[in-house]
Amino acid sequence: MKRNKMTIVGAGNVGATTAHIAATRQLGDIVLIDIVKGLAEGKALDMAEAAPVQLYDSHIVGTLDWKETSDSDIVIITSGLPRKAGMSRDDLLAKNAQIVKEVSSQAARYSPDSMIIVVCNPLDAMVYVASKVTGFAKNKVMGMAGALDAARFSCFLAMELGVSVEEIKCVLMGGHGDDMVPLPRFTSVGGIPIGELLDEDTIERLIGRTRNGGIEVVNILGSSAYYAPAAGAVKMAEAILKDKKTVIPCCAYCDSEYDAGGYFVGVPAILGGEGVEKVIELNLNDSEHRQFRQSLAHVKELVKKVDELL
Ligand code: NAI
Ligand code: 2OP
Repeated sequence: MKRNKMTIVGAGNVGATTAHIAATRQLGDIVLIDIVKGLAEGKALDMAEAAPVQLYDSHIVGTLDWKETSDSDIVIITSGLPRKAGMSRDDLLAKNAQIVKEVSSQAARYSPDSMIIVVCNPLDAMVYVASKVTGFAKNKVMGMAGALDAARFSCFLAMELGVSVEEIKCVLMGGHGDDMVPLPRFTSVGGIPIGELLDEDTIERLIGRTRNGGIEVVNILGSSAYYAPAAGAVKMAEAILKDKKTVIPCCAYCDSEYDAGGYFVGVPAILGGEGVEKVIELNLNDSEHRQFRQSLAHVKELVKKVDELL
């Protein structure tokens, strides 16, 4: 029986953490690839040596050579510049577009039947690059951001209410930027809508903190976040590899859905063995719809810019 195989491109903060979490969740064998000599190899060896303590059976290898990634089931792309204090995600566009172009082409060459999960920023535009370069079916290319943004919103709600994070279910939409659209109407704690538990000002404050969640970490830590982003990427990979039919916000291709007209953008979706199996269309009210259109307009602008660079 074939074991699951996952390639993680980029052995930096997000990539290495993704590999470690995926190993501890026993998702299959892992190839970590980077362009910096020794980085992927060294981190992979260190993770392999943790296996006897943490009791995972994944074979983890680090490499500079794309041949070793052959026939992966999933390729997670984390190779890209992260932002620093004072930078927006959009400032990364030109450089990361080139990196994502190059690695997507290698992924398509060596793992033509894989699914691609993009993590690099600016996220929605980078998913478009991976889709264009690989030419893969649209359900097989997606981006991780909603899982992270929803986790941040859940974390802040749990802290505010003093309840277990397990009880919180959040839905978010739109691009992975300051204009993301958290949806409190569809967010609940133990099945109770949050509007029953928190006043509007508190909810707005927590939404604001969620929108600024990425830069909050950058300002404190001096580098971009990686534990929560890696956990989000692994959750998506697990949904696919175990065919879990997980309902999760992610950057997925929308054509008629939400009248998006052929763009990759954050929406609630069902992830399973076929990748993005369904985009769930919520009945948005006027305000939610307006916010989504605004966020989508920003994604379209970035895609236009990136198209000129490719
Ligand atoms: P990092 O700098 O720690 O790691 C990036 C790695 O990519 C480096 O080791 C670098 O050598 C490698 N790399 C660069 N070009 C490569 C190539 N052509 N082939 C293989 N490897 C290559 O950065 P970090 O913190 O891991 O962030 C990675 C990306 O993920 C950034 O673009 C960041 O903005 C993004 N990000 C996205 C999030 C999301 O929610 N979608 C959350 C967190 C980070
Ligand atoms: C984040 O939200 C930088 O997109 C990354 O942490």
